[in-house]
Amino acid sequence: MEKDVYILGIESSCDETSAAVVKNGREMLSNVIASQIDIHRRFGGVVPEIAGRNHLLAVMPVVDEALSRAGITKEQICAVAVTYGAGLIGCLLVGVSAAKALAYALGVPLIKVNHIQGHIAANFIAFDKLEPPFLALVASGGHTSIIRVENYNTFVPVSATMDDAIGEAFDKVARILGLPYPGGPEIDKRAKLGNANIKFCPNLHARADLAYSFSGLKTAVVNYVHNLRQRGEELQINDICASFTAEAIGYTVDTFIKCATEYGLKQAVLAGGVAANSALRARLTEQCENCGIKLFVPPPVLCTDNAAMIASRGYYSFIEGKDIAGLDLNAVSNL
Ligand code: KG4
Ligand code: ZN
Repeated sequence: MEKDVYILGIESSCDETSAAVVKNGREMLSNVIASQIDIHRRFGGVVPEIAGRNHLLAVMPVVDEALSRAGITKEQICAVAVTYGAGLIGCLLVGVSAAKALAYALGVPLIKVNHIQGHIAANFIAFDKLEPPFLALVASGGHTSIIRVENYNTFVPVSATMDDAIGEAFDKVARILGLPYPGGPEIDKRAKLGNANIKFCPNLHARADLAYSFSGLKTAVVNYVHNLRQRGEELQINDICASFTAEAIGYTVDTFIKCATEYGLKQAVLAGGVAANSALRARLTEQCENCGIKLFVPPPVLCTDNAAMIASRGYYSFIEGKDIAGLDLNAVSNL
C-alpha cells in the first residue's frame, strides 16, 4: 500500500488566516480559519496594513490548531503548501514566511500555490469523485475568471474580468447603500426580500470574446443611488439589491454557459467567495441542468478563503514534483 500524503496548507492572501491538513489531496483532516472581518468592518473594507499585522499574530497559533485538530504530528507532514499570490502583498508575505520556516525546519518541500487554482481545488475536497476535465467559474472579491481545467496540473484561462471582480462590485454597491462589510452576503440576504424591478442600465450581454466587465453596472447603480439621494427620495434598498443581483448574476451565468457550450465541456465547477451567493448557485444549477452540464458547487465554507483548498491544490503539484519552491520564494500580488 502506498504511503499516505499529508499536506499542511497555509492561506493569508486577504483577511482570513487559515491553516489546514489534507490527506491524499481529498480528505480534509482540519481547516482552521481565523477571520478578521470584525476588525475591518469599522473601516468598510480590508485595510492591508492592519490585515498583515493580524496575520502575523494569528498564523502560528492557527497552524498549531490545524495540526492538533488533524491529530497528526509535524513530523508526518510531507510538504507545506502556501498561497504566494495573488493577493495583498503584506498579507501574502506572512503566510509565505511562515511556510518557508516550517518547510525548512521539517525538512520537507515548500509548494507554491496560485490562489485562484486553490479556489478551484476546493471542489476536490467537497466531491471525492470529481475528476478533470471541467470548466471552472471562479467568482471572488479579487477575480472573476473562467478556467478550463484539463488535468490536475493544467489550468487554461479562458476569460477574466476587464475591470472589477464580481465580489468587488457587490462590496462597492453594498458600501454605497450603507450596508456593512463584507457587502456580498448582506446584498444576498436583502435581495431575497426585494423585487428585481429596477433597470440601472441596458441589459448586460455575454461578449463575443467572453470577457467579463462589471464596472459599468456598478457605476450605474452608484449613479442611481446618488440621484435618488440628491432628490431626497427614499431608497428601496432591498429592491436595489434584488435588481443588481439579478443583472450581475444573470450576466455571469449567461457568459459561463456560452463558454461551456463553445468548449463542449459537460462538467463544471463553481469556486470563490461569490460562489456562496444563493442566486448564483440557483441560476447556475438551473442553466447547467438545461444544457446537460453536470455542476459541482462546494459548501459555502469551502467557497471563501481557506487553507484546505490550498493544501489540496498543493498535493497535486507535490505528487508530480511541480511548483516546488526554494527559500527565495517571494509573494506576488498580481499573478
Ligand atoms: O474568495 P474570497 O473569500 O476572497 C477573495 O479571494 O477575494 O471572496 C470574498 C468575496 C467578497 O467580495 C464577498 O463580498 C463575496 O466574496 N461574497 C459574496 C457572498 N459571500 C461572500 N458575494 C455575494 N453573495 C454572497 N453570499
Ligand atoms: Zn479567494
